[in-house]
Amino acid sequence: MNRIFEARKSEFHFMHDISQYQDFFIDYLKKQNIHKEPTNLYEPIEYILGLGGKRMRPVLTLMAAEVFDTDYKVALPAAMAVEVFHNFSLVHDDIMDDAPLRRGQVTVHEKWNLNTGILSGDAMLILAYQYFEQYEPAVFRDLAKLFSKTALEVCEGQQWDVDFEQRNNVTIPEYLKMIEYKTAVLVAAAMKMGAIVAKTSEKDADLIYDFGLNLGLAFQLQDDYLDAFGDPETFGKQVGGDIIVNKKTYLYLKALEFSASEKALELEKLFSLQLEDNAEKIETAKAIFNESGASKSTQEAIEMYTFKAFETLEKMDIHAEKKDILRTFGENLMGRKV
Ligand code: IPE
Ligand code: IPE
Ligand code: MG
Ligand code: MG
Ligand code: MG
Repeated sequence: MNRIFEARKSEFHFMHDISQYQDFFIDYLKKQNIHKEPTNLYEPIEYILGLGGKRMRPVLTLMAAEVFDTDYKVALPAAMAVEVFHNFSLVHDDIMDDAPLRRGQVTVHEKWNLNTGILSGDAMLILAYQYFEQYEPAVFRDLAKLFSKTALEVCEGQQWDVDFEQRNNVTIPEYLKMIEYKTAVLVAAAMKMGAIVAKTSEKDADLIYDFGLNLGLAFQLQDDYLDAFGDPETFGKQVGGDIIVNKKTYLYLKALEFSASEKALELEKLFSLQLEDNAEKIETAKAIFNESGASKSTQEAIEMYTFKAFETLEKMDIHAEKKDILRTFGENLMGRKV
C-alpha cells in the first residue's frame, strides 16, 4: 500500500494554470505550416483557426494528459486535431445555421462563398486526422477509433438539430440527446484523448470522458442561453440567431412547458415564422423565456450538469490538486460570457 503511494508520488506531475495551457496551445498552433496552394482552399482554414476562440477543447486535452502525469507536450498533436475538427464543424455549422458572424468576424461562407466553406471544411476534417499520424501505432489506433466514433456522433447531433427546426413536438430528452451528440461528445473525447496519450487505465479514461460529457452538456445549455441573452458587443455571434431559425433550445422547450396554453400557442406560432426582420420576434421570445421561468430553469440545468461532472471527479484516483484545477475549469465555464 505504502509502496504504491510512494510510486504515485514520485511520478507526480505538477499542473499548469489554465491560461498557460492556452498559451502552450497557441504557440504550437502558430508553428503549424498550414498555408499551401491553392490559396482559396487554405486561406479560409488559416482564417478560422486564427480567429481565436476560447481554445477550450485543446486546453482540456493538454490538461487531461497532465492530470494523468504525462507532459502536455505529448498531447499537443491530439489537442491540435481536436481544435481543427472543432473549427471544421463550426465552418459547416455556420452554413447550416445561416450565421453571419463567428468570433466577432464574418463567417467563412460569407467572406468567401458556400463552396469554399464546404471544401475548406472537408480539408480541415482530413487535416485533423493527419495529426494522429505523429503517434505510435497503438496510440494512433485508439485516438483514431475514438475520433471516428465522435465525429460521426457530431454529424448525427447536427442532423437532429436541423431536423428539430421544422418540428414542433421536440421533447426535452430528445433535445438532451441532440446536444450530447452535437457538442458534449467532442468535449468528452478531447479529454479522453489526453488520457489515451498518457496511457492511463481504462477506468480513468472512461471517468474523464464522463466528466467531459457532463461539462459539455452544461456548456451547450449555456451556449443556448447566451445565444438569446449574450451581450452583442462581446458575444461574437449574432445574438438571437437560434430564435431567428426556430431552434428548439432548452429555453424554448421549458418556456412551452411552463406557459399556460395561450402563451404556449403564441410561442409555437412565433417559432414557425421565417421573417426578414426579426427584431420583434427576438424581443417577444426573450420576454417569454424570462417570464415563464425558462431562463431560470436553464441556469439551474447548467449548474446541475456542472455538479454532475464534479461528482465524477470524486470517483477518480488522482491527486486533490488536479481535481481542484478541473473543478476550477468547470466553475469558470459557468461564469463565461462568450
Ligand atoms: C461553439 O463552441 C460551438 C458549440 C459547440 C457551442 P465554442 O464556444 O467553444 O467556440 P470557440 O471555439 O470558443 O469560438
Ligand atoms: C454547434 O451548435 C455544434 C457544432 C458546431 C457541432 P451551435 O450551432 O449552437 O453552435 P454556435 O452557437 O453556432 O457556436
Ligand atoms: Mg450555430
Ligand atoms: Mg448549429
Ligand atoms: Mg449556439
